[in-house]
Amino acid sequence: MQGARSLAKLGEPRLLQEGSARGAMRKSADFAADILTRAVYGALEQRGDEMSASLSPFAAKRVGTLNKFYTRAEIGELLATELGSITPRSAVDLGAGEGSLSLAVVRRWPHLNVTTVDIDDACVGALHERLLSEGVQSHTHRRLDILDDDLPAHLDQAPFDIAVCNPPFYRPKWDRAFARILQAADFAEACPAVTDVTAEILFFAQNLRLVREGGTLALIVPAGLATGWSAVAFRRAILEKHTLRTAIQLPPYSFADTEAHCFILILTKGQADPQEIKLLRMDDRNEVSDALWIDRPAAVKRLDWSYHAAHRESRDASFTLRELGAQVRRGSITTVERRAASYPVFHTGDFPSPGELVALPEVAGKFLGSRLVIAQTGDILMARVDRDLHQKITMAAAGEAAITDCLYRVRLPEEHRMRAFKALSSADGRERIRAVTKGVGARLLGKGELLDLPLFPQP
Ligand SMILES: C[S@@+](CC[C@H](N)C(=O)[O-])C[C@H]1O[C@@H](n2cnc3c(N)ncnc32)[C@H](O)[C@@H]1O
Repeated sequence: MQGARSLAKLGEPRLLQEGSARGAMRKSADFAADILTRAVYGALEQRGDEMSASLSPFAAKRVGTLNKFYTRAEIGELLATELGSITPRSAVDLGAGEGSLSLAVVRRWPHLNVTTVDIDDACVGALHERLLSEGVQSHTHRRLDILDDDLPAHLDQAPFDIAVCNPPFYRPKWDRAFARILQAADFAEACPAVTDVTAEILFFAQNLRLVREGGTLALIVPAGLATGWSAVAFRRAILEKHTLRTAIQLPPYSFADTEAHCFILILTKGQADPQEIKLLRMDDRNEVSDALWIDRPAAVKRLDWSYHAAHRESRDASFTLRELGAQVRRGSITTVERRAASYPVFHTGDFPSPGELVALPEVAGKFLGSRLVIAQTGDILMARVDRDLHQKITMAAAGEAAITDCLYRVRLPEEHRMRAFKALSSADGRERIRAVTKGVGARLLGKGELLDLPLFPQP
């Protein structure tokens, strides 16, 4: 950004000017497009025409959102192993695709009666062949719409001993059948608002309906359900009515063709048991961490191994922005408004290297508009949404600028500013920030996550 002067590490500040806003703006437009294309976990399938002929009108509306991301074999194997020492006789796999999850459980229990369900017939050949080659003795496949509230009535084999499922992740248009599915699964509390209802939660509920009391479910969920503040109700609903045994944090690219960050949740239906929950993390070399055990209140908060591991090791020495009395505000200027602005606006493209300060322009007169969030000397600026947000942390050494809605302004009492800035921008701080971000492609840092992030004092 024009007029920005960089300060060497905590030395001279980088100066922000209005002119170079253009480049930064272009970058952010690409970035917004990226969010739009990737937030639905990848491209939607366009196979509607050929399939809709024989489906109900309701199902036909949704065949464009099949989300056919298939599970890698290592993930299926981990899921089957973590199902524990049970002796199931029947299994159901909703949204089976080519059967990666069914295959994994049949390898462990070859005598299972397996029922697979998928709306898309294209996968049936490969699915059946794969299960046969694994020596499956009893396999039933049904082409059904899993978002049909009558689903259990179409599956004579229910209730099942185990359910495995990797559902599609998307938000279907609201239908009254969804309320019936959630009620029947006694899972309505998981979605306090209609806008919380997603395909993955409805698949979760359908699985709960199909498994016998005391049966085991191993379900893949997007990271947001396992870690997000907005999914507290979902986690509480599971923990209050069922026994959540294990949550496994998976690496990106666990599913062919998508970077989506996901978890496997393993639970026993019914019998809410106050025992501790086991957390694991698989890394991108498929290595599985040691187990970490957390209690139920901690599990309601979030279920990622990375977060709890970081918290545990730093419980004594660490501090949080919340404890320092930080006020965190999100910027208000959109990238479109920024283009027309007659005053300096700081954006994600304007950050110097981590640990460097920035000198904002000296603005003659006052900023007009109560909606603006203005950064001033001493404020810490951080990217809120960005592919590399953990690298975008600076502190204003002089001047003033409005900030875009892709940024947070962190304002602290003077005596804590430098301590907080050094901790946030250190290699350790940036790694901790990265661990609590979520999203596909572009990452997102939640305000709560930032306020409660454990930070280490730096020299
Ligand atoms: C993410 S893929 C998972 C495939 C497979 N279970 C795996 O793990 O490799 C989701 C699957 O759900 C199926 N599906 C999506 N919506 C469905 C619906 N409403 N009813 C039935 N199947 C559906 C898709 O056809 C696709 O095979």
